[in-house]
Amino acid sequence: MNLSPAYQSIATAIEARLVAALSYDEAAVQAPILEAMAYATLGGGKRLRGVLAVASCDICGIARDHSLVLAAGLECLHAYSLVHDDLPAMDNADLRRGKPSVHRAYDEAMAVLVGDGLQALAFELAAQAGLPPEGLRAFAVAVGRYGMVGGQMQDMAAQAGHIAPTLENLRMLHAGKTGALIQFAALAGPHWVQENQHFEALATYGAHLGLAFQIWDDVLDLTGDTAQTGKPQGQDTDKITFVSLLGLAEAKAEAKRLSDQAKRVLPDVAASEILGEIADFTIQRVA
Ligand code: IPE
Ligand code: IPE
Ligand code: MG
Ligand code: MG
Ligand code: MG
Repeated sequence: MNLSPAYQSIATAIEARLVAALSYDEAAVQAPILEAMAYATLGGGKRLRGVLAVASCDICGIARDHSLVLAAGLECLHAYSLVHDDLPAMDNADLRRGKPSVHRAYDEAMAVLVGDGLQALAFELAAQAGLPPEGLRAFAVAVGRYGMVGGQMQDMAAQAGHIAPTLENLRMLHAGKTGALIQFAALAGPHWVQENQHFEALATYGAHLGLAFQIWDDVLDLTGDTAQTGKPQGQDTDKITFVSLLGLAEAKAEAKRLSDQAKRVLPDVAASEILGEIADFTIQRVA
């Protein structure tokens, strides 16, 4: 499935905001970390969380000049999560977006700092975008101890055998490590304007999409092609996944059900079109 010109033009605009945010003075004493942060973030990735946030903000009437800056912040946060996820202490992956992962291109200390720096930059951009304090708080909650970080910890604990391999536990783990940031992106608009008639619908959409996204990521870990995914194949075969619990066919069917459910709740407004496209893309993508 090819992404629409509408999706691609938002992704391109996000990329431009990222380039601006990550540009630096090569003579600066901080140049090595600035270079590594740019390496980790620019020129790769689908920008799915950023595009989700922009579409959600479109629904709530937030001007693109503002929403694109928040989207760049979400992509910095996501890039940080990938840099740390690839570290030897976590998934120990040598390839990311078709390039050596940050700890391979630089070193582990630099990869830790790149993640730290990108996380701070993410909030700097969200604040610069004009996201109000309640929205900033929701962003922090989504990616923190009860959200992404908590989910990544459960992922490690499950791999070590400390969490029972049940579907219920796996749903909770995925909702944290992958679902929380995706759901926050889908809710960016309602969080921005505080009160919005579409909050519940977009929350449900985001929850279903986040789970479908991780199931499909695990499907690709087994069936994908490194030339397309840009990451090592089979890196999660020793983990508990929907594929390991349900088998490939049923995992794919579950992702399809979740994608369909996500689409069904979308508000009947023009800006929902791109959210529907993302739900379709999530379970058809090869990268
Ligand atoms: C990969 O996310 C990490 C997961 C949460 C599964 P993406 O597949 O969105 O990665 P990029 O940004 O396109 O590289
Ligand atoms: C990562 O999940 C979720 C994050 C918070 C980064 P995975 O470990 O499956 O992501 P990939 O496959 O390395 O991109
Ligand atoms: Mg991982
Ligand atoms: Mg990984
Ligand atoms: Mg994976």
